[in-house]
Amino acid sequence: MNDLKDEIKSRLSVEDVVGQYVELKRAGRSLKGRSPWGVDKTPSFMVSPEKGIWHDFSANKGGDIFTFIMEVEGISFKEALEKLAARAGVDITKYQGGDPAVSKKKARAREALSLAAKFYQICLVRNQKVCEYVFYKRNLNRKTVAEFKIGYSPASGRAMLDILRKRGFSLDELEAAGLLNRKKTDLFRDRMMVPFIDTSGSVIGFTARILKTGEPKYLNTPETLLFNKSRFVFGLFQAKEAIRREGYAVIVEGNMDVISSHQAGVKSAVATSGTAMTEQHLKILSNLTSDIRLAYDGDSAGVKATERAIMLAGDLGIDLTVISDYHGAKDPDELIQKDPKLWQDAVNHSVPAVDWLLQKYEENLDLSSAPGKRKYSDVALKLLEYVKDEVERASYETKIAKKLGIDVATLREKGERLQKKLEQSPKHYLKKPKTKVKSDKLEKLENSLLALKVYGGIVKTKIPLEIPDDDAKLAELELIFNSEHELSSTQDYEKEAKELLAIYQQEIAKAKIAELNNKLSELEEDSEEYLEILHSINELQKTQK
Ligand code: UTP
Ligand code: MN
Repeated sequence: MNDLKDEIKSRLSVEDVVGQYVELKRAGRSLKGRSPWGVDKTPSFMVSPEKGIWHDFSANKGGDIFTFIMEVEGISFKEALEKLAARAGVDITKYQGGDPAVSKKKARAREALSLAAKFYQICLVRNQKVCEYVFYKRNLNRKTVAEFKIGYSPASGRAMLDILRKRGFSLDELEAAGLLNRKKTDLFRDRMMVPFIDTSGSVIGFTARILKTGEPKYLNTPETLLFNKSRFVFGLFQAKEAIRREGYAVIVEGNMDVISSHQAGVKSAVATSGTAMTEQHLKILSNLTSDIRLAYDGDSAGVKATERAIMLAGDLGIDLTVISDYHGAKDPDELIQKDPKLWQDAVNHSVPAVDWLLQKYEENLDLSSAPGKRKYSDVALKLLEYVKDEVERASYETKIAKKLGIDVATLREKGERLQKKLEQSPKHYLKKPKTKVKSDKLEKLENSLLALKVYGGIVKTKIPLEIPDDDAKLAELELIFNSEHELSSTQDYEKEAKELLAIYQQEIAKAKIAELNNKLSELEEDSEEYLEILHSINELQKTQK
């Protein structure tokens, strides 16, 4: 693997690779430009051609050409490698890296799944009853069925098994691909088969719908070497281009909603296993666009999922809106069956997620009563914690105060009181998402401290961080050092290190508190462990300034 990386690096310069996305100007030994993640006000993106690395000070990330392509294109390391290899004219097959046993297993699972998908596709066209379901009941056309590789799994219980065994796959291999049940026969029987296709276009699993009513409605591939539910975005392979072109992504609840949406011409639709959206899902999408539109049901699960998405979206700089006008249909698919144009209209008129949630809170509470007003202000203020922009926030405060018939000052007063209470008590009213244990701030501090330790020649201040032995990381630290410190003395470095270290320790304690709070939210109140953790939190809070 390293040979392959080196070969590619020797043929492509970092300024050429980065230069396709960022306009670079020479600044001494480095090149400077604006962050491609668009969060800087002055050029804060640096490239060191000598070292072959880049660093973005505003987004606080950096690395080599591979990590750059991964970040900017929102693709995996493997995909970035393939892309750059193609560009450099390097034959990737000559370098098969990684753990050979695992790569082999994965490759076999891919082959098995691809073959199974083809088999299911053939079974579909041969079965009149299922064709009726797919083409008439679900109203899918041939093109859509082909694009999403939709198929049918026969009812016999051994159909797929027998075919793949004949083609040389062992039971273990089929099991690793997630194709077998506990009795080691076909997992999928008498269902419409919808493959999970990864961003490189290969089948990594299936979701299988029962043809009539029954349970479970959908049967999914379990977690395997290839399929990871919390990372997989259904439809992304088919939607990637459109998301880039249109500049937005639509997240729907159901996989069938994605398929219908594509057929209806809204091709930037994807799904994240129902409403169970994770930070990873959002991160993958946020690399393609910051305009993300949610099309969840308006029921309580939809409200919860939207609240969750708001919490996750904050740190990623995502503009989150909600698509809600379904004209009485229960989901996008049903709306599209009525009229595909209505769906495109709904997508075009999504409303800011905060506005939508405030509306929902209002519908569910009695705002004419004092307790109703209290409850409304509780949830509304909780929501505002995630609105970071001062102007946006102030405008919501005005709106909420008006709704309640009170003045903004009173609302703010309550907000401050709740905030204080929240800081003191670890129990959160509306559960916060798992706080990242290592925040960006912490990582930045760590980098600065390491840069001082390695390149500042300090000895007096003991920095409790291991010096990395990875060349790229060291080069990145040097770049950080050079840009943060111009011509200063070792004495100055010592002073700075001491100051940074104090802040760093505070941040570590803060991170620890956040971690313990996360744990706490999963425990029974009054349990032994709960009380112990509470005690630790209190101790840590004493160290906080
Ligand atoms: P829905 O029940 O809303 O799906 O579940 P849908 O797309 O409207 O289904 P149709 O139109 O009746 O065919 C939404 C999502 O929740 C997950 C699936 O990912 C589905 O796409 N789900 C639902 C399951 O995994 N298993 C189930 O039994 C049901
Ligand atoms: Mn549906």
